[in-house]
Amino acid sequence: MDKFYVLGGNRLEGEVRINGSKNGTLAIMAGALLAKGTTILENVPRIGDVDTMVEMLQQLGVRARYTDEHTVEIEATDIETNEAPYDLVKKMRASFCVTGPLVARRGYAKVPMPGGCDIGARPVDFHVKGLQMLGAKVIMEHGYVEAEADHLKGAVVYLDLPSAGATQHIMTAACLAIGITHIENGALEPEVVELAEFLVAMGAKIRGAGTSTIEIEGVKELRGTTYRMIPDRMEAGTFAIAAAITGGDVTIRDAIPEHCSAVFQKLLDAGVKVDAGPNWARIRAQDRPGATDIKTMPHPGFPTDMQQPFASLLAVANGTSVITENIYERRFKYVSELLRMGADVIQEGRTAIIKGVPKLTGAEVNATDLRAGAALVIAGLAAEGRTEISGVDHIDRGYENMADKLASLGGAVVRSSVAPEAAVKLA
Ligand code: EPZ
Repeated sequence: MDKFYVLGGNRLEGEVRINGSKNGTLAIMAGALLAKGTTILENVPRIGDVDTMVEMLQQLGVRARYTDEHTVEIEATDIETNEAPYDLVKKMRASFCVTGPLVARRGYAKVPMPGGCDIGARPVDFHVKGLQMLGAKVIMEHGYVEAEADHLKGAVVYLDLPSAGATQHIMTAACLAIGITHIENGALEPEVVELAEFLVAMGAKIRGAGTSTIEIEGVKELRGTTYRMIPDRMEAGTFAIAAAITGGDVTIRDAIPEHCSAVFQKLLDAGVKVDAGPNWARIRAQDRPGATDIKTMPHPGFPTDMQQPFASLLAVANGTSVITENIYERRFKYVSELLRMGADVIQEGRTAIIKGVPKLTGAEVNATDLRAGAALVIAGLAAEGRTEISGVDHIDRGYENMADKLASLGGAVVRSSVAPEAAVKLA
């Protein structure tokens, strides 16, 4: 099993290109099931979760394949089966979102309920409630959701929380419903807007995506289309924080700065220089970052996915910071690993109090989820000595070639199944 070996101390300098959005791609791949025809998705990130979604579609009897490194073709005229396999839904929550499109296209779906994960219980009650409001009969037993409806019918669906996944799932299912659906208290994430744009390109009638009330007017049929993914704002944020913790000077290309504004604002609060243009951002840091407080919120608030990477920066900040995790109940598992690296963190429930230390020290640590892995790599870049990070399969789920990209910026990062003979060379 591979590990990341990181030797801290190198400044990151240069340019890095951001791949397409993981969370946008996964929602759109589920949405492609609605179309009788061929959909081409460009600028798709080559990551584990997308591989899993391709396999999911294939197991539904849909023609799905990579036509090149970053392009996926989906031909969904025929969907052979209405049942999604447990081993894939268990691996990746987003695959649950094939339920709505299957019911919309074929009147029935049987999909395993996605388990919880290391960041929280992550129930799907909003998704189920939405499908029921659209007229589906839903039974939940033996760990499966069975949903059926001759025809979905438009309805008003109010979400208790602006859930990104539930908004995307219900919006997708409503495209082929009879009549008009209003999603109220919908999520504002850029990946919701991107999905709406994709569905409209397939012939859907959707208004209001990007606001909390989204109107979907059902149509009879959707056709395939070609769509290019927006950049991944979480990858952009991750590299921005990595540049900051190393006192580096990194230009992030193919990013959309306005999608990263909460993270960039917090970097500015911490004394990091952030300059941005339409599709790039330059991150420069000289001194030790200052402390700043973080409260995770639905978009456009500070994204929960960046809480963990940002905590690594705050671990070496000049002062004490407080992180409040308002979205997930268990998103601090990485703290115990940071403590092994010499961080000074007191974590209680949804709050972490981080007293910045002048230096972290390299250690053997384990990534428990995707963004925790990113946080540990970032900490290793600034730590004294070598950090060995296991659990890189989590990192592979959401980051394409992270080690190579960091190494191209001068980071002493090697991904290997065996410890490098000598310590990783300083670049
Ligand atoms: C999406 O998950 C992202 N995943 C997550 O990114 C991200 O952390 C999350 O949005 C929040 O921004 C994908 O897009 C594939 P939610 P999602 O529904 O849609 C509760 C990453 O690292 N909730 O917005 O599942 C839920 O428990 C991943 O890339 C219910 O209670 O998140 C959470 O507390 C991690 N019932 C809150 O809502 C439901 O039916 C927000 O969850 C659905 C959600």
